[in-house]
Amino acid sequence: MNTESRSSLSSRSAAPAFDLVLFGGTGDLAMRKLLPALYRRFMDGLIPADARILGVARSELSCEAFVTKVEAKCRQYLGDAFKDDVWTGFSALLGYVKVDATHAQDYQALSHALAGRADIVRIFFLSTGPDLFAAICRELSAAGIVTPTSRIMLEKPLGEDGESANRINDTVGAIARESQIYRIDHYLGKETVQNLLALRFGNALFEPLWRRGQIRHVQITVAEQLGVESRGDFYDRTGALRDMVQNHLLQLLCILAMEPPANSSADAVRDEKLKVLRALRPIGEADALLKTARGQYRSGVVGADRTVGYREEAGVDPESRTETFVAIKAEIDTWRWAGVPFYLRTGKRLQRAIGEIVITFEAVPHSIFSGPFNADPPNRLVIQLQPDESITLRILAKAPGEAMRLRPVDLSLDLGESFKARPLEAYERLLGDAIQGNLTLFMRRDEVEAAWKWIDPIREAWDADHDGPRPYAAGSWGPTTSSSLIARDGFTWYDETF
Ligand code: BG6
Repeated sequence: MNTESRSSLSSRSAAPAFDLVLFGGTGDLAMRKLLPALYRRFMDGLIPADARILGVARSELSCEAFVTKVEAKCRQYLGDAFKDDVWTGFSALLGYVKVDATHAQDYQALSHALAGRADIVRIFFLSTGPDLFAAICRELSAAGIVTPTSRIMLEKPLGEDGESANRINDTVGAIARESQIYRIDHYLGKETVQNLLALRFGNALFEPLWRRGQIRHVQITVAEQLGVESRGDFYDRTGALRDMVQNHLLQLLCILAMEPPANSSADAVRDEKLKVLRALRPIGEADALLKTARGQYRSGVVGADRTVGYREEAGVDPESRTETFVAIKAEIDTWRWAGVPFYLRTGKRLQRAIGEIVITFEAVPHSIFSGPFNADPPNRLVIQLQPDESITLRILAKAPGEAMRLRPVDLSLDLGESFKARPLEAYERLLGDAIQGNLTLFMRRDEVEAAWKWIDPIREAWDADHDGPRPYAAGSWGPTTSSSLIARDGFTWYDETF
């Protein structure tokens, strides 16, 4: 690795002084993820004592009340990592400013709080619904507090289709240059996802195999046991395609399928990801029903718990046609990937909570051993992203005994065990990178646009289909149409093989 690549994927160096303004500062994401992540960075000595973290929200709260609320949540979410002495230092950085995002006059208080610090890094983190992005951008600009070195962090969802995403991007683009905009896909902040980059581009071993002719097919699964929790209303307007595929699964696909970038700088990596998105074969009305499967969970048993059906969840329309499960056969029209299907699958209330990538290699061209290995190729690389991070390579070996009998065995690597170090939480890394000004793990506007361009026609084809999502029992692996989707090509989903 050269020096540049080392720096562009690292967020561990000491940060410069900064002001972080957290819109949605009392919200769920801020309390559950962002503030605990900042606490951890502070604990690791990565936040200087002259930095400030300003929670911003509509509620009339005193600074003390805000700090007390943050303390309670940090204690709750950090568990043993919460230390009173660290908290004393961290809490001294916290402040609170009451701002109703749509009230121009409230921004004067924010301007006042930021006064005299225009020369340091200033970050506006918009952890609110996207419907407020336009008002916030307009008022920040009118209040004259977006400095040339300010950074704007945007939480997903970035729109509900290409058109609305463009509107958001135009709005933010009117007050900041592209190089100041940090669009979050928290999957890119996951240690395990960066390990994919390490695996592919840190080792010469895989590259010659990473292509058509060597790989038969690829499966990417992000399965959740959780249902829609308290987000029924949001989820019912969104669905799994927009909530998970447009962003997280496509980003995983990009990292797996992209050409080796020239270095790990933000644009080198993002240029390569963009090429993958643009090479995705469009799926439209003619083939959407063949190449996609969607489902909606009914009641069932997940783990040990009996759970209600999606339509019984709070905030969900009892006649909802929103999908809680999606499977898609994606094809990438490039020399490297022509003819290699990438099967994407995600859903709520599935049998197991797991994020994994399964790469099935081609069988040997001519076998000198007896066995059914040609139909079911033996070599498989399973990269488990969560809950635990592991890499397993399945190979054939001779089973002990007189006969020459081959059996599959696994070469397994448990990365948690190997490194015995605490992995960074996604938001710890992403906040660190934004503070350091490193855009590599954030989405560029053209990537977001290209992703929507592939997703929108699928959505439209589904809207035109009268049948709607197929039901599946909570605790299963989704609707039967998901198994048929992959069975049509002669394959099975990895988890259904054992
Ligand atoms: C979010 C989705 O982006 O990702 C949620 O909105 C989903 O619906 C979550 O549960 C999954 O993230 P993770 O990190 O738990 O895999």
